[in-house]
Amino acid sequence: MSITVTPVHPEFVAEIGGVDVAKPLSPGDRQAIGDAINRYAVVVFRGQTLDDERQVAFAGNFGPVESSALKLRHRDIKHRLESSQVADISNLDGDGNVLKPDARRRLDGLANRLWHTDASFRAVPGALSMLYAHVIPDEGGDTEFADMRAAYDALPPSKKAALEGLVAEHSIWRSREQLGVVQYTDEERASLPPVPQRVVRTHPGSHRKTLYLAAHASHIIGMPVADGRLIILDLIEHATQPKFVHTHRWAQGDLVIWDNRCTMHRARPFDTTKVRDLRRVTTRDVASTLEQAA
Ligand code: OGA
Ligand code: MN
Repeated sequence: MSITVTPVHPEFVAEIGGVDVAKPLSPGDRQAIGDAINRYAVVVFRGQTLDDERQVAFAGNFGPVESSALKLRHRDIKHRLESSQVADISNLDGDGNVLKPDARRRLDGLANRLWHTDASFRAVPGALSMLYAHVIPDEGGDTEFADMRAAYDALPPSKKAALEGLVAEHSIWRSREQLGVVQYTDEERASLPPVPQRVVRTHPGSHRKTLYLAAHASHIIGMPVADGRLIILDLIEHATQPKFVHTHRWAQGDLVIWDNRCTMHRARPFDTTKVRDLRRVTTRDVASTLEQAA
């Protein structure tokens, strides 16, 4: 079985075949997958069979695995998944039942429907996210991805110059607040304080400049909040035009990897009385964007 890499969009996204991600990777396959992530930013593996432990082991090939922030902001409930390294991206409660409409964890998870990049609200943010599909509803629940390098390239030179050196404040509470989801304790809030991140960064994997945006981005440091918020909203609107976006329609057994350093993504609606069980493992970047190349 030799590895294949097939682009599926003019700018980014490739499907990778000929690899069983549940098995230890050969050095050649590991290199080829790493190269494809650097080039395409989103890669899709179909028909895989993974349990939580193997998913974490696979992710470990590509960087240190981050512990999920989910248990930090939901301290008072029973969690379904034991591993702190696997984020439960499902609509199921600790007993495996579909979450009730008013369940706090369900409302918190709705923020995944806003364009974002994972863990930009951490000082050392997320690098690669790897989402695996256990159960998929018959309809809806696609995930959309947007290419922030192509979006940056398409900005007029004057806009690029205006963005040079800008730093945004990111906070997980900002993305939740946009949806009116604000019921968190002081202790939960204190566990994830706001952090600064560059608005434009150089993507370490491809050395291309990229926008670094998310629903977590609140405002621009050193500017009135309203002005900064308008800049962020405008950039997100620009960066998510259809020409920069790819829609992934899930099938059970899909593993999708995206590079949070140069993409955004969002979940699309589905009938939330049906089960959707996806689980995510994310690697950590090496440093805050402020300590990396602009
Ligand atoms: C995530 C996420 C989107 C989805 O796992 O980080 O945003 O479609 N998921 O579930
Ligand atoms: Mn996400």
